[in-house]
Amino acid sequence: MNDVPSPMLIDGDENQKKDSFLKANNKGKSIVAALDSKPTPWVEKYRPQSLSDVAAHRDIVDTIDRLTSENRLPHLLLYGPPGTGKTSTILAVARKLYGAQYHNMILELNASDDRGIDVVRQQIQDFASTQSFSFGSKSSVKLVLLDETDAMTKDAQFALRRVIEKYTKSTRFALICNQVNKIIPALQSRCTRFRFAPLDPVHVVERLRYVIKVEGLDVTDSGLEALVRLSNGDMRKALNILQSTYMASQQITEEAVYLCTGNPLPKDIEQICYWLLNETFVESYKRISKMKTTKGLALVDIVREVTMFVFKIKMPSDVRVQLINDLADIEYRLSFGCNDKLQLGSLVSSFTRARSAILAAAK
Ligand SMILES: Nc1ncnc2c1ncn2[C@@H]1O[C@H](COP(=O)(O)OP(=O)(O)O)[C@@H](O)[C@H]1O
Ligand SMILES: [Mg+2]
Repeated sequence: MNDVPSPMLIDGDENQKKDSFLKANNKGKSIVAALDSKPTPWVEKYRPQSLSDVAAHRDIVDTIDRLTSENRLPHLLLYGPPGTGKTSTILAVARKLYGAQYHNMILELNASDDRGIDVVRQQIQDFASTQSFSFGSKSSVKLVLLDETDAMTKDAQFALRRVIEKYTKSTRFALICNQVNKIIPALQSRCTRFRFAPLDPVHVVERLRYVIKVEGLDVTDSGLEALVRLSNGDMRKALNILQSTYMASQQITEEAVYLCTGNPLPKDIEQICYWLLNETFVESYKRISKMKTTKGLALVDIVREVTMFVFKIKMPSDVRVQLINDLADIEYRLSFGCNDKLQLGSLVSSFTRARSAILAAAK
């Protein structure tokens, strides 16, 4: 224990080092600025501040905007896949309602907070039942934001039902979740439901273009397409991939994006499918195996992408059905951690069988 230096000492050392470093350098000021400015994740930096900033979901956002303006906000239930703007929308509503007072008037609880039955009773009741002083803000109704409500226990949800009713006069509840079927019907019927669908590629591109312009990034057209393809309508994912690709390489190309996420490139998948459809069993097995190790690809990613590719190849429909079924089985087994080599063998043999079936059908 004795030889562990105290943290105080380390801090002191660091500061002294920094001081002397700054004194020695004429450009002390700019270095201080550089040390102070922490690189913020772009998902937070570009979180929509107002409702008009929220991309897509125009009808939902306009409805909520109108209700907010008229001070007739109902209890809300927003659901849909991650990264579609649910939390951002509610935070924008809170900003619009309370302005600078927004931190006093909103209680935010998410899945990382303890939300057992006691917390719902205590924390929410305390917040909801205290008198609110809303200096200058438009509304005196407070807002309880329950993020990831689907992770709350059933008991806590039942307790919440009663709390919602009791404090409706002074408080509005906004529930957010991914899967609406995990919310008990009694809660659902107390809220106005809005579904946030995955973002349309058009809106993802628009928002990405804005970030690219502000950050002054060098992104090729195919790089942008790759970002949209890999994000699958999840704006958070799109921004995260954009930022990590930018950190890895100056120019953001299709290849850089795929390399950064570890996904197989479309041209690699094309090559693999070509081997599967034309080479002998041994030869395709060998070549795919080699490509897997040199490019560091995961078999499960290959199987997923090859499956998408099978939809584009012309073949009799019964052969296609069988092949896709086989590929689904391989993916299933891989998810249980089965041996990669055996499953690769299984992949090649599914195609070998499909090829014989195609030949037989042609005769
Ligand atoms: N509709 C949207 N318009 C603009 N940015 C969005 C949108 N949806 C998500 N984002 C981006 O993704 C991040 C996460 O969004 P968030 O609202 O927390 O998603 P959710 O709560 O639906 O998982 C935001 O900080 C923002 O940068
Ligand atoms: Mg969220």
